[in-house]
Amino acid sequence: MPTTNNLPIPDSIAQQHSEHLLTHIKQAISKAGGKISFADYMQLCLYAPGLGYYSAGSHKLGGKGDFTTSPEISSLFSRTLAQHIIDVFQQIESKDILEFGAGSGKMAIDILLELESHNSLPEHYYIIEVSADFQQRQRQAIRLSIPHLIDKVIWLESLPTDFIGVVLANEVCDAMPVHCLHFNNGTVKERYIENVDNRLQWCESELSQVDLIRHAEEITPLITNRDDYFTEVNLAAESWLASLASTLQQGAIFIIDYGYSKTGYYHPERNSGTLMCYYQHQGHDNPLILQGLQDITAHIDFTALAQVAFDNSLQVAGFQSQADFLLAGGITELNTTETDAFDTLKTATEIKQLTLPSEMGENFKVLSLTKDLEQILAKVQLGDRRHSL
Ligand SMILES: C[S@@+](CC[C@H](N)C(=O)[O-])C[C@H]1O[C@@H](n2cnc3c(N)ncnc32)[C@H](O)[C@@H]1O
Repeated sequence: MPTTNNLPIPDSIAQQHSEHLLTHIKQAISKAGGKISFADYMQLCLYAPGLGYYSAGSHKLGGKGDFTTSPEISSLFSRTLAQHIIDVFQQIESKDILEFGAGSGKMAIDILLELESHNSLPEHYYIIEVSADFQQRQRQAIRLSIPHLIDKVIWLESLPTDFIGVVLANEVCDAMPVHCLHFNNGTVKERYIENVDNRLQWCESELSQVDLIRHAEEITPLITNRDDYFTEVNLAAESWLASLASTLQQGAIFIIDYGYSKTGYYHPERNSGTLMCYYQHQGHDNPLILQGLQDITAHIDFTALAQVAFDNSLQVAGFQSQADFLLAGGITELNTTETDAFDTLKTATEIKQLTLPSEMGENFKVLSLTKDLEQILAKVQLGDRRHSL
């Protein structure tokens, strides 16, 4: 991993922007009495209105941004996801899609085009997007690329009631704020951010909330190496999924993200946690710099999400590597319009990027959850790893 010394230097406008956010964060710390939880800090860094990484107007996704995601790498990803959606649509009456955190809007566009080619368009394609900047980009991209389908796409501010259909979340949970814990000398402390002599730094104290204490108690037996062990807890993703479960009447939820089941997440060797920052395609582990300019993310504990699903009457229908999910969905069999050897090579390279274990095939997982479906979703059984949850 590059050190922070190797990171590109932001230009003066970006630095000014970051300074504004830093001032805002310092005010929040002072208002809170001297420290804020890392989750509150991450929330401000990513989502402070007009200033946070996702709320402000810089390029984030793709080659010109800070990181890239599967839908940006290739439309084959979304087109394959559409095959899984069709499987669910065959079992439900009302066919709607709800996508969380739709990024550039590319996944929505590619899914809608693929469904259209199968005569399986949804009645509505709802999007819930916390970033106003991303919402605007999505509207623009969808209006430009698929003007004939724009009426199907509806942006919602909150969860619909009694939803029937398919819910999608690709790399959304990893962008939710996490709490940071430090196990050491037989105790567990929460890690906070404080402002000392006008500089942000980490500090430790008691756990800030009851849910976190409960979670820490649950994971303590899993952490065999409790000597200087750092980890994260994503309470936001858990409560997001619980609310989603209560609104889903029938259908499926596909959660796609990088992460592990509990044994992988709390592996003794993962003693520095999974917190990562990305700035212009360089990964590093210091979230206390480049506020508002870099992405901050943590891996997903899929066991915790599966437990929430189970506790809220969802069926845990499958847990696969992204490679198995895409291969079962027929990524290698989709019709492509290659006209020359260059196109063929491009398609092969994209499939490799999405499915090879050394690329995104293994780190990324798909948790498939269902509610009230009569038949199992056969494609999510390939390489199913629910036993590891
Ligand atoms: C890493 S980006 C992924 C974008 C897109 N899904 C993709 O794969 O290219 C995370 C996205 O999730 C959004 N997001 C984060 N938390 C969210 C939430 N609670 N509800 C809806 N969107 C959220 C962010 O604004 C951003 O659009």
